[in-house]
Amino acid sequence: MASSLTSLVNDDSRYQKSFQLFLERSSEHQCMQDFIHNKLPDILASIGNGKSHLNVIGVGSGAGEIDLEMLSELRQKHPGVTVDNEVVEPSSQQLHNYRVSVSQKKELDYITFTWNKMTASEFEAHWKEKKMTKKADFIHMIQMLYYVKDPAATISFFQSLLDKNGKLLIILVSGESGWGKLWRTYRHQLCNPDISQCVTTEDIKNILDSKGVRYQNYELPSQMDITECFTEGDEKGELLLDFLTEVLNFSKTASPELKTGVLELLRHPECSVESNGKVIFNNNLGVIVMEQLT
Ligand SMILES: C[S@@+](CC[C@H](N)C(=O)[O-])C[C@H]1O[C@@H](n2cnc3c(N)ncnc32)[C@H](O)[C@@H]1O
Repeated sequence: MASSLTSLVNDDSRYQKSFQLFLERSSEHQCMQDFIHNKLPDILASIGNGKSHLNVIGVGSGAGEIDLEMLSELRQKHPGVTVDNEVVEPSSQQLHNYRVSVSQKKELDYITFTWNKMTASEFEAHWKEKKMTKKADFIHMIQMLYYVKDPAATISFFQSLLDKNGKLLIILVSGESGWGKLWRTYRHQLCNPDISQCVTTEDIKNILDSKGVRYQNYELPSQMDITECFTEGDEKGELLLDFLTEVLNFSKTASPELKTGVLELLRHPECSVESNGKVIFNNNLGVIVMEQLT
């Protein structure tokens, strides 16, 4: 990324604020919920091999809204099971929000939560150091592979933890989304080389194809209202722009050329549609489901 710019991930408080606003302005969680209720049940039905206890690992769980919906589907497909759920999340604020939400739901007493305030790579180191032999029935990484240095190595490690019939679920933005176009155009200026950041499901599929790893994939249509980004000085627009570019205070720190170029691209037909005075960005997601390596 341009040396004058700071990555948004360096400021967790602003990152979480901009992520929250992104959730409010997009159909991100709605489209995931549709997938969880319509497609995921069949995927979950095949895990577990009839066991009465299932091991789940959530990586980059955030405040856990989506995790809890998936756990509820899991319970419906496997009534009577108990669940051990390892949560891997480096943000203390998000982990706290997740814990509060769990403490308010008595119906989750069939799940034992283990709270790992750490990154995916710290979890990997911790797992190896403890020489853990536990296998997982369901592992998910939802919108988090942007933040690891080596997505292929992260996928390989977590895939190696799968039990027979276990499933690893990855959700990222689709290569066909506005994000894909933005990153193909401004990768060098915006993307942080210390972490992979600008990765789409297209990139992950290419990696898996090159290694001959089998997977199933799904596309989830989703949108994001980015109209406020085009009002100079609008506080929410600036927060959304930070989330879109993953640059801290993008409006104030990017060069005028970069700012103009990014704003033009964001409303370009390859990224957005304009209707009724609104600019609606293509936030389509991709889902990849993998099994144990054979
Ligand atoms: C875009 S949010 C997604 C949260 C949640 N999965 C969802 O979809 O609502 C990304 C999450 O990944 C977490 N994260 C960032 N870097 C990480 C890393 N290296 N390993 C694991 N999680 C990470 C962030 O703290 C954040 O909660």
